[in-house]
Amino acid sequence: MSLDNVTSQRKLEHLMIALNEDIEGGLTTWFEDIRFIHNAITEVSPNEVSLKTKVLGYSFNYPIIIAGMTGGHRLCARINETLAILAEKFHVGIGVGSQRVAIENPELEYTFSIVREHAPNAFVIANIGASEVAKKYTLNEIQRIIKMVEANALAIHFNALHEIVQPEGILSFRGILNKIRYLSQTLEIPIIAKEVGCGISKEVAIKLSEYGVSAIDIGGAGGTNWAIIEYLRAKRLGDSLKMRLSEMLRDWGIPTAISICEVRSVLPHIPLIATGGIRSGLDIAKALALGADLVGIGLPFLRAAYRGIEEAENYFTSIINELKAVMSLVNTDNIEGLRKVPLIFSVRFSEWLKQRGIDPIKLSRSRQI
Ligand SMILES: Cc1cc2nc3c(=O)[nH]c(=O)nc-3n(C[C@H](O)[C@H](O)[C@H](O)COP(=O)(O)O)c2cc1C
Repeated sequence: MSLDNVTSQRKLEHLMIALNEDIEGGLTTWFEDIRFIHNAITEVSPNEVSLKTKVLGYSFNYPIIIAGMTGGHRLCARINETLAILAEKFHVGIGVGSQRVAIENPELEYTFSIVREHAPNAFVIANIGASEVAKKYTLNEIQRIIKMVEANALAIHFNALHEIVQPEGILSFRGILNKIRYLSQTLEIPIIAKEVGCGISKEVAIKLSEYGVSAIDIGGAGGTNWAIIEYLRAKRLGDSLKMRLSEMLRDWGIPTAISICEVRSVLPHIPLIATGGIRSGLDIAKALALGADLVGIGLPFLRAAYRGIEEAENYFTSIINELKAVMSLVNTDNIEGLRKVPLIFSVRFSEWLKQRGIDPIKLSRSRQI
């Protein structure tokens, strides 16, 4: 099999595992460690809530990004088409999966460009891996990736754990920060540094910002888990070494809720997308209250879109209803207000913040500057 076919085949394998197996587990998001205080005298009804927001110069109707997941195979094109229709209808953001496969095989470009065709007005995010950017891709190739989807932003995904546990992983990360600095000074669109399930710490956030990224998608632990996905692949292949490794790393990472606090504690104003295990309107409300500007949702949209546009719309409508209900119960009719409501943290949550020198009071105050 040629290299491009191998990559396309692997994309399909990941997709089928994500659609059919239980790939969440290990750490949780730790959103369960945060509680809102119920407001018995709320004056806001759910239908008065506005979820409009402006991030990276773009006006979103809802603070939601359909996380970049797929592309590179016929089946992925169909899912991308459905997700794009959804993004266009609700005027939210949409990412695509890694476009490496289309650089290797231009015949597969349509599996990505189909997103822009069906979402002419959405905020579309191109996608490529940090190890590929560090190792080989030239400016020309990066510009091809951007043009392929007429992207509004470029996500460079950091997936060290995944590269380490998957048999075909690229284990060369050296040089990525300098390459990011060069790209951030050269490209006309913003760069989003994006983790894919292990979270971003405050130290890493500072580094990324110093090297010129415009936004951070914290991609925390608690949702789609690459150690589990690769464990399942290794088991099928009878690769006991990779099975042991991925099993050991099952609960590696920084929970999503914690990662938001880590990044916000040092970068109060950087556009922050919270992805990783966001499943309900309550999760969205908590992420926004902690300081996220947008949330990214992957697996639930993927599974719904596979079943068709109606399912995808139903899921979207449900989480929006849930979010509006929660905002009503804390007496706020907009996202800015949500950032000011009091929150209660569990002991383990507070302990993490304390050991990391993060003051939760300062955290919320810094958002109000
Ligand atoms: C099947 C699948 C493929 C993915 N491929 C990519 C990818 O190519 N690039 C990327 O940045 N993230 C990729 N992701 C990660 C998602 O963007 C997201 O960060 C992750 O799924 C966590 O969100 P969730 O818990 O809501 O699924 C993929 C996720 C899934 C489920």
